[in-house]
Amino acid sequence: MRTRPLKVALLGCGVVGSEVARIMTTHADDLAARIGAPVELAGVAVRRPSKVREGIDPALITTDATALVKRGDIDVVVEVIGGIEPARTLITTAFEHGASVVSANKALLAQDGAALHAVAEANNKDLYYEAAVAGAIPLIRPLRESLAGDKVNRVLGIVNGTTNFILDKMDSTGAGYQEALDEATALGYAEADPTADVEGFDAAAKAAILAGIAFHTRVRLDDVYREGMTEVTAADFASAKNMGCTIKLLAICERAEDGQSVTARVHPAMIPLTHPLASVRGAYNAVFVESDASGQLMFYGPGAGGSPTASAVLGDLVAVCRNRLSGATGPGESAYAALTVSPMGDVVTRYHISLDVADKPGVLAQVATVFAEHGVSIDTVRQQGKDGEASLVVVTHRASDAALTGTVEALRKLDTVRGVASIMRVEGE
Ligand SMILES: NC(=O)c1ccc[n+]([C@@H]2O[C@H](COP(=O)([O-])OP(=O)(O)OC[C@H]3O[C@@H](n4cnc5c(N)ncnc54)[C@H](OP(=O)(O)O)[C@@H]3O)[C@@H](O)[C@H]2O)c1
Repeated sequence: MRTRPLKVALLGCGVVGSEVARIMTTHADDLAARIGAPVELAGVAVRRPSKVREGIDPALITTDATALVKRGDIDVVVEVIGGIEPARTLITTAFEHGASVVSANKALLAQDGAALHAVAEANNKDLYYEAAVAGAIPLIRPLRESLAGDKVNRVLGIVNGTTNFILDKMDSTGAGYQEALDEATALGYAEADPTADVEGFDAAAKAAILAGIAFHTRVRLDDVYREGMTEVTAADFASAKNMGCTIKLLAICERAEDGQSVTARVHPAMIPLTHPLASVRGAYNAVFVESDASGQLMFYGPGAGGSPTASAVLGDLVAVCRNRLSGATGPGESAYAALTVSPMGDVVTRYHISLDVADKPGVLAQVATVFAEHGVSIDTVRQQGKDGEASLVVVTHRASDAALTGTVEALRKLDTVRGVASIMRVEGE
């Protein structure tokens, strides 16, 4: 074993970074044996230098992250600051000054992954980011390496623990959205400002990363259709139960049937209780991958938290250090397929539509005609009368999102349709 240590610069020492530092210290001997050389924490960049950080030598702490990545003797930079800047500039500078990079930064990778990969490649360095998607769950490496000989057709997953916790609460207790969110906040599952989670931004960033790797195609955050889950109601859960379904916020990356294009989207959807994703409870994450040769695979586990996320960071650190010792680099960006990323209108799925209508003869026929005129075939219809008004629940066969949007616009114009109470896609069948 080499005795000269590999030097690691840690950028950020918060929820994830403090756990990375702890595991690097407590597992130092095992890590050295697995890598073939010791790893040494050479510096820790933070914003607040006076904060007490247990187990970290105060002499390593700096607020000058730029100087740390420019030192020239750093082998691996671990970026766990988060956000776009200064993380992007620091990572770029690290590559230019001879270091490889491990990052957990989904927002940055979804936005600028291609450019960062290009800088890594130009400098013959590694860029690894297993922790950016679904915390501890191995997903990037299985897609990039284990399935590199297969053809992935679909990635369907619960990649945000906060929203899964809220939806699971609504499902199991009948609570409304706000009540479930309040509980998630009190228990520390939701941040004070939960927008990134509940509006689907976090899941959309992960969907962009997953789709890019799965389909060997550049998929940017802007390519991902996104709908949050703040409009999901207790009534939606009651409807879902009637259909033998539950509701999950899903990230769905799909190859079109002709194989020439892909789509990536995040939205709440009904899935059958028999689907493995329906049983993912609390803040857990799970991702279902469908490939030509492998068939269906499911990856499940804790999708966030300091220690689980640090596990993924450390796995990358070991891989990058091994590459460093052998003088090689691991797989970089693979975007050779360059498939078209299609808009949401091209997505084909089933829909559950709940309408408030006048309770009088002929309404059902009128509604059915609108569906037929837009080429959306109805699977089932359920009608419930209440004081001269009625609710109509229509479940469709597979249709394009564009056709469904046209149908809903036309339905809203009917005098007998008082309102469209909810539209929910039905997935996983
Ligand atoms: N938390 C999770 O469960 C989780 C899961 C998966 C991925 N991630 C990703 O991991 C990354 C880190 O998340 P986190 O939860 O650990 O964040 P965090 O607790 O807020 O920690 C951020 C760290 O970065 C430091 N920092 C902020 N701005 C800085 C700057 N300009 N220069 C140097 N240091 C700076 C902070 O310093 P101070 O300590 O002085 O404030 C803090 O140590 C993010 O990209 C996040 O998306 C997190």
